[in-house]
This record gives sequence, C-alpha cells and structure tokens, in this order.
Amino acid sequence: TWSTGNIIDEQVAKIREQVGDDLVICALSGGVDSSVAAALVHKAVGDQLTCFFIDHGLLREGEREQVEQDYASTMGIKVVTIDESERFLGALEGITEPEAKRKAIGREFIRSFEDAQRKLIAEAGVEGADIKFLVQGTLYPDVVESGGGEGAANIKSHHNVGGLPEDLKFELVEPLRTLFKDEVRAIGRELGVPEKIVARQPFPGPGLGIRVIGEVNKHNLDVLRAADAIAREELTAAGMDEEIWQCPVVLLAGVRSVGVQGDGRTYGHPIVLRPVSSEDAMTADWTRMPYDVLAKISNRITNEVREVNRVVLDVTSKPPGTIEWE
Ligand code: XMP
Repeated sequence: TWSTGNIIDEQVAKIREQVGDDLVICALSGGVDSSVAAALVHKAVGDQLTCFFIDHGLLREGEREQVEQDYASTMGIKVVTIDESERFLGALEGITEPEAKRKAIGREFIRSFEDAQRKLIAEAGVEGADIKFLVQGTLYPDVVESGGGEGAANIKSHHNVGGLPEDLKFELVEPLRTLFKDEVRAIGRELGVPEKIVARQPFPGPGLGIRVIGEVNKHNLDVLRAADAIAREELTAAGMDEEIWQCPVVLLAGVRSVGVQGDGRTYGHPIVLRPVSSEDAMTADWTRMPYDVLAKISNRITNEVREVNRVVLDVTSKPPGTIEWE
C-alpha cells in the first residue's frame, strides 16, 4: 500500500541525490503533471529550480494568472513567465492546416525555451555555467504508451507543451514516472498545489491554436476565448466538471451563417461545443448534457460574443471523431 507521504519523502530524497547543487529547470504548462512535478522538485531543492511558463498567446482566459498567482505565489516557486504571443502568432500567420499549425507551435516552443534558458544562464553570471537538469511530468501511462509504440501517435502530432524539446541535452528529473494520475493529484494536494490546478481537465499543449478552425489570429482567438470562458463558467456552475472529461469549445472561423440578432441581420461564426466523457482519452463518447445547461450556454454566448450567432453541439464519439477538431 502506498501513502502520499511516503512517496513524497522517497522522491524528495531521490531528487536531492540526483541533482546535488546543480540548477534545474522546468517548463510549466499550467496542467496537473508539470505543476506537481515542479512542486516536488521545489520541495527537494528549493531555489535551485526555475520554472518557465511560456505564454504562447493560445491560453484560455485566466490561465496565466492561475499559474502566476494561484500557483507560483502560493507555492513560493520561482516562475518566469515569458510572453511569446507575438512570436507564436507571427509563426501561425496564414496557416490553416492542422499539422502545419501543430508543427509551427512545437517549433516555436522549443525556440522560446532555448532563449529562456540562455537568459537564465546569462543572469546566473557564471562563466561556462550550464543547466544540467530538466524536470518532466512524465506519468507511468506515458512511459507505457511510448514503449507500446501504437499507431495512434500518427493521427496527430501531439506537442506536449511542457514537454521535452528533443534536441536539448538535459538529464531528466521525472519524479512522477511510476505514478498514475489519481496518485499525482493526491500528492499535489498534499504538497498544497491549488485545487484549481490539481483538478484540472486535460488541455492540449497547442492550446486554442487547434480550436480555431481556420486562421489563428488575435481576433479569432479573442472570440474563442470569450465563448470558452462562458462555456466553462456554466459547466462548472451546473456541477458538470466531474462527469465531463473535457469540453473543447471550437470556433469555425472559416464558416459563416446568417442570423438575426437585435434588430438586424448578422453573418457570424458558429461555435461548436464538444463535451466528452472518457476514461483515458483513447476512446470517448459525447456527454449527454442536460438541455437547460446547453440552452444557457448557447444563449449567453450568442448574447455576449458579438461575432457568434450560432452554437452547435458535436454528437460524435471517438472513434470516429477525435476529441479535438484538429
Ligand atoms: P484527440 O484529439 O487526439 O485528443 O482525441 C486526445 C487527448 O489529447 C489531448 N491533446 C493533446 N495534448 N498536446 C497535448 O498535451 C497535444 O498536442 C494534444 N492534442 C490533443 C486532447 O485534449 C485530449 O485530451
């Protein structure tokens, strides 16, 4: 039988032994795994750890504040936020093809991470200083899956933003490598990681970039961000967060339809709600949502987000649909 206290003590000792007096870095994504891994490493080696949070401009409303305030301040962990939204938006200009988007985002992530690392070394001011260790929130199922080499990996290029830039040479610190998600959540709670982060539903590394169908630009992102915030607020208010695995909110930026809002004709964009129930994201079913919750979300989005005049529900299981639209 395992207890969270035992696991924490054991991992802390192991991390100290591995790292010694060297510097450690971690790319925080705002998700459960990297947040808990960083908290463990911080408990072990304190300020030897620096976390980078790369704001790629594809985050949801409030997400950056959640990491900076709720996480970094509460935990006393050094987190350097790097605003790279201009860089990512520049790289995404004119791209609509899903794999091209994913590749562009993955590439810019690696570059941002390299720049951040160089800056940190320069600031440390030590001649020939180097950072040897990189924290990764790898879980046991991740280890099994990569060993399994299943074909599913070819369906989409998953860029685990917060993951390892492949051409960087680091020794990995992976304190969650033997654990499952529920154990990681328990450890996070014990370490005082805020509930908002510990209980978070999955969110893809490429963020809203793969939920704008069409071109990813600031305007489209703002529209989607506003609709997404409303959907999340109402799902939480309706007590649906446990039942729903995740609910991507998708903007069909390349599609317009005619509507009537206020006293005039509109020619706006549809928003798709994609609530799914799942055990492991390998397969999923669309969640049978209460009609009144759907109605509330639809009314609010079309009232509060000017560019949206239609809300549609995705009723496709996985397979044949994937959870994300791109
Ligand atoms: P799909 O769309 O393939 O998604 O059914 C399965 C799960 O993976 C998440 N997802 C990603 N997570 N980087 C990630 O870290 C990615 O590039 C990525 N693409 C999809 C998706 O949200 C779902 O939970």
